[in-house]
Amino acid sequence: RGAPPTVIVIFGASGDLTSRKLVPALYNLGLDSLLPSEFHLLGYGRKPIPDEEFQANCERDLEKFSRRPLNKDIWGHVKPNVGYHAGGYDDPKAFTELKERMLKIEKEAGRDLQFLFYISTPPSVFKPILENLGSSGLARHHDGTDLASKVIIEKPFGRDLDTAKELNRIITDQFHEHQVYRIDHYLGKETVQDLLVLRFANSIFEPLWNRNYVDCVQITVAESLGVGTRGGYYDQSGATRDMLQNHTMQLLALTAMEAPVSLGAEAIRDEKVKLLKAIQPLRLEGENCDAVRAQYGEGLIDGVRAPGYMQEQDIPQDSSTETYGALRFSIDNWRWQGVPFYLRSGKRLARRVSEIAIRFKQPPGILFSDPTRFDLANNTLVIQIQPDEGTTLLMNSKIPGLETRTQAVKMHFRYATTFGSNTPEAYERLILDCMIGDSTLFIRGDETETSWGLYTPLLESWQELGRKGLQSYPCGSWGPLAADKLLWQSNHEWRRAGP
Ligand code: BG6
Repeated sequence: RGAPPTVIVIFGASGDLTSRKLVPALYNLGLDSLLPSEFHLLGYGRKPIPDEEFQANCERDLEKFSRRPLNKDIWGHVKPNVGYHAGGYDDPKAFTELKERMLKIEKEAGRDLQFLFYISTPPSVFKPILENLGSSGLARHHDGTDLASKVIIEKPFGRDLDTAKELNRIITDQFHEHQVYRIDHYLGKETVQDLLVLRFANSIFEPLWNRNYVDCVQITVAESLGVGTRGGYYDQSGATRDMLQNHTMQLLALTAMEAPVSLGAEAIRDEKVKLLKAIQPLRLEGENCDAVRAQYGEGLIDGVRAPGYMQEQDIPQDSSTETYGALRFSIDNWRWQGVPFYLRSGKRLARRVSEIAIRFKQPPGILFSDPTRFDLANNTLVIQIQPDEGTTLLMNSKIPGLETRTQAVKMHFRYATTFGSNTPEAYERLILDCMIGDSTLFIRGDETETSWGLYTPLLESWQELGRKGLQSYPCGSWGPLAADKLLWQSNHEWRRAGP
């Protein structure tokens, strides 16, 4: 998997994501000899920063955030090719200067270079960046070669269906779809990629993966952290735009889609879109309402008092932003009709855990029907996305002894035990894939629009309702009672998430 010679430009170079994830990801690719031999990094931002200062910032970030210690020799080798370009995002002149700088790098390299632009800025400047890339001639097409410019776009990809369509239009005015990489970092996680292997490389699961055997599916993406210093962004976004519409929905799509005809990017993305299209509109009113939203109030996290959402920095006192969402989706296709898919995601929940739980139906209750002796659990396959990555199968076993009694037991596979814990970070995999031109783990334009199509009516109805109907939950809990009630309606209950 060799990447062509590349210059990568990160817009939003002084941002948090660049420090915590992008610079360490590039460095770790370098450590694994996965960066091209000719590789240059340019940070781009409004603040004027000399090259040397940006290099020193990168070094500090690596010491703080890289998953492996800083190797001064390797860093010393990369450092001269790291620079910074100051300019406004809506300043055509700054883009012309950027182009001149990149062409100079290319000339000095004595060969054609791939130009890769990573847009990691607030969404308000996506448009001017994309337009300026186009008008300055930086969106090079180089048709038929792997040296065409590429653009990676961070989330949020729009706020609703209309804004996502508008953004797609702006992008495709400047770039061809094959040059566009809409990132969802959950797709870069090892456990998420393993979903296809688990489902389609193991003959014991696939025959059961349907409405005949599956009772319900529960997808949990829970965080114990609050909004921290990101209140300004988060209050405009909420759990639905921040997590459910993108990360959680990708987990659903990979869990529920049909087998693709190949592992090719389009084959997989076609199946995800097909699946998203089979999802029924959420019911937004009445007894069968499929959605619950809530905001965290004060509570305890690990025994320490944590403030409620309203007390967090930069949160308006009348905010109706949800920090928790629980949804029930119905998928109207041959495989899944009648099987509820429950999704929940929230901040300040009891623990950080992301998992997909496939709960199977009970066998006929002829042999073990006496409830005083047998307490049969539904077989449940839990795919532990993070932390403590792995897979657990919950099943029933006889308790040793002269009497026949049963107990639920667990069969565990843990990544750390089997493979060790030094796995690549999501961003390493995704940046490398983009450099080599593999878009499998990125979101296609029609995919994001189909997903927004499901979420937009929900978001609009919540906006109209304001705080009416917004539930509350204490920090450190598992969410509001209303989310439990959502499942009780169909005789289900949330699993206590975790291994
Ligand atoms: C980001 C969200 O996309 O994902 C954050 O904006 C969230 O609010 C983060 O905390 C979670 O990512 P991870 O990889 O830590 O689960």
